[in-house]
Amino acid sequence: MLEALAPQPADALLGLIKLYNADPRPEKIDLGVGVYRTATGATPVFKAIKAAEARLIATQDSKSYLGPEGDMGFVRALIPYVFGAGFDLSRVDGMQAPGGTGAVRLAIEVARRAGVRRIVMGTPSWPNHAQIVAASGMELVTFRHVTAEGTADLDALSAALAEAGPGDAVLLHGCCHNPSGVDYTCAQWDAIAPMIATRGVLPLLDLAYQGLGAGMEADAYGLRTVLAAVPEALVAYSCDKNFGLYRDRVGAFYAVTGDADALTRAMANGASIARASWSMPPDHGAAAVRLVLDDADMTQMWLAELDDMRNRMREVRDRLAAAQQVGTIPMAPLGIQNGLFSMLPLSSEQILALRTDHGIYMAGSGRINIAGLTSGNIDTFIDALRAVTV
Ligand SMILES: Cc1ncc(COP(=O)(O)O)c(C=O)c1O
Repeated sequence: MLEALAPQPADALLGLIKLYNADPRPEKIDLGVGVYRTATGATPVFKAIKAAEARLIATQDSKSYLGPEGDMGFVRALIPYVFGAGFDLSRVDGMQAPGGTGAVRLAIEVARRAGVRRIVMGTPSWPNHAQIVAASGMELVTFRHVTAEGTADLDALSAALAEAGPGDAVLLHGCCHNPSGVDYTCAQWDAIAPMIATRGVLPLLDLAYQGLGAGMEADAYGLRTVLAAVPEALVAYSCDKNFGLYRDRVGAFYAVTGDADALTRAMANGASIARASWSMPPDHGAAAVRLVLDDADMTQMWLAELDDMRNRMREVRDRLAAAQQVGTIPMAPLGIQNGLFSMLPLSSEQILALRTDHGIYMAGSGRINIAGLTSGNIDTFIDALRAVTV
């Protein structure tokens, strides 16, 4: 039987990690893996999370099942950060999910069960978006996310929305677009929100990097602007980057609608999909986030750590942007892009040359992890970039 299985392509990024680990050159640079790194190249556990974990261990008196919706204290504690302090709580309900990935999966499946047949999405995107849409059996309709000038392509989105209507959903990155780093501006979100409302398209908003772009509030601008204009929406949220919990798989799925009955049904369907998929989400990371958010001191500690991360990435971006032009690569756009990632217009030969000749590892798409650069390696990186692009 099993020999009938189709072979699957190897995960390119995991392959890259193996190559990087096997490279003996001490000056090698990893710009591939999508995690935050400090100026010394570490991905430490947040101090606020360590404090919450200590409290969790001291106070948790049971590990009994919670149910498919997971830790609802965690889910509710996030609401003011995601939706804004004054958000109408009767419009929103949510459930915990295993990471942002689990939340995206729930959003797509709930949309399908609600009758959505096509997902409209800008490309390039996080590769798993297309895989999850494919797994759902829905049609993926794509449009260009980035213009030739390196800005977010509002015209392409508006043309795609003009062709869409009820029965379609539009999947948008809330901030820190992966892989391009190119976000819609506030003015663009102001234009996007009424377009979505007019077309009757269901928004699926994926917020996986809140706080890593311009700040917790600023990074929610697009999501909140859309939610103010539309009757209903689905939201996928990840705490894996902004709380540094990657492997603990911490996410949440929210439905927003003014119809109380529809809200109950959205949650019931989410719970039934969860039950048949992972039954219940892992508890530890979400419980730690809840403890952080329930304690003013730990919250401040977390926000300060998040500020440090964002400021460090901003400094790296500023230094890259200051190079203006490196060989054929315009560098100034990196300064106005957001989050962990940017994409460099490099050929596969140039990406290979960076790896083999200079020990610089990046995804085959030209995506670089900004946090892989430090004051100690950024000049080496720029020199190597120049060497392969002249
Ligand atoms: C746009 C986007 N959405 C969702 C996720 C899922 O994050 P996780 O499942 O690690 O929480 C990612 C992770 O890379 C992402 O880039």
